[in-house]
Amino acid sequence: NISITNRKIEHVEICLYENVEFGSTLFEDVTLIHQSLPGFSLADVSTTTNFLGKKMSAPIIITGMTGGLPELGKINETIAEVIEELGLGMGVGSQRIAIEKKETKETFSIVRKKAPNSPIIANLGAPQFVKGYSLEQVEEAIQMIEADAIAIHFNSAQEVFQPEGEPNYSIEILYKLIDISKSLKVPIIIKESGSGLSMEVTKMFYENGIKYFDTSGTGGTSWVSVEMYRGLRRNNWKAESAKLFLDWGIPTAASIVEVRSIAQDGTIIGSGGVRNGLEVAKAIALGADIGGFALPALKAAVKGKESLMNFLKKVIFELKVAMFLSGNKTIGELKKTPIVIGKELRNWLDSRGINLSYYDSVRKRR
Ligand code: FNR
Repeated sequence: NISITNRKIEHVEICLYENVEFGSTLFEDVTLIHQSLPGFSLADVSTTTNFLGKKMSAPIIITGMTGGLPELGKINETIAEVIEELGLGMGVGSQRIAIEKKETKETFSIVRKKAPNSPIIANLGAPQFVKGYSLEQVEEAIQMIEADAIAIHFNSAQEVFQPEGEPNYSIEILYKLIDISKSLKVPIIIKESGSGLSMEVTKMFYENGIKYFDTSGTGGTSWVSVEMYRGLRRNNWKAESAKLFLDWGIPTAASIVEVRSIAQDGTIIGSGGVRNGLEVAKAIALGADIGGFALPALKAAVKGKESLMNFLKKVIFELKVAMFLSGNKTIGELKKTPIVIGKELRNWLDSRGINLSYYDSVRKRR
């Protein structure tokens, strides 16, 4: 059986060298309205945002990916240096490895050392809470990086196709997380990992006081595909079935609408296939508070600090241009900007019983 460390390296290697992006975000069905006379200059656009009690220069985070081995710790270190310099935020990858092998802690704690002032998000997997994880491990993960929040990732689609996966998602996870959330000083973020959060799942947590969500919908990294590649290498019979589910899940734009329609007062990270600053603007106009990137940040970070810095500066520029051209000077204004919703996304809302004009008032009321 492959060790957790080898698996982590293989995951990163597959994400870097295979095509792992499938499905659509449906951001193509969101249009911001051009305003010929914005009433201010591009230089007046302000993207500053508050997130987890900290001020950010733009509503952008790198979502949790890695840690656990020196090479992977190096990726975390690069991301941390860049986001601290730019005034953004980040998450670390699952810290289970550091809870089980204390000697790997440094590959996560380096993040707080390099980014003392930025919002940093801890990370553990939901299935761990069926296997005995409790408040103790959550507090350990948070303390390890002095985190401002902890993301609990849901990855049922990945577990199913992972050759050594354990797809156990019993309802105990819900009860445990609600319980744990009551004793924590920082919020729990309910996070998908590429298949999107639905209204139903959002409701389970939101009604019980958990108010942070990371959509991680389809259209970006498909973890079914990553495990399919691993399965093909091992001649695992499940790999063939994985092909059927490569784009399984809720498109990111639809997931943002689903989550916001329930978590009206919540904080939402729109992620999964977000690839540029225009899509960050669309995510925010549609109902998210923050845009999240994983794969493109990984690809840039392995090339070095400057490469990631340039990528994120480009994203911030594109966000500013989208705000300027749609006449929105601040992120607060962007949240209330008029949008046109195209056919497929409109159809998604319809089929899910979300009334378009009702939703328009929900997304703007924030
Ligand atoms: C991830 N992702 C992830 N998520 C999580 O909560 N814990 C984790 O340990 C990891 N590990 C991980 C490794 C690598 C190499 C990648 C690319 C991604 C999922 C990630 O945070 C995000 O939700 C999805 O990748 C979708 O976003 P993108 O990649 O389409 O921008």
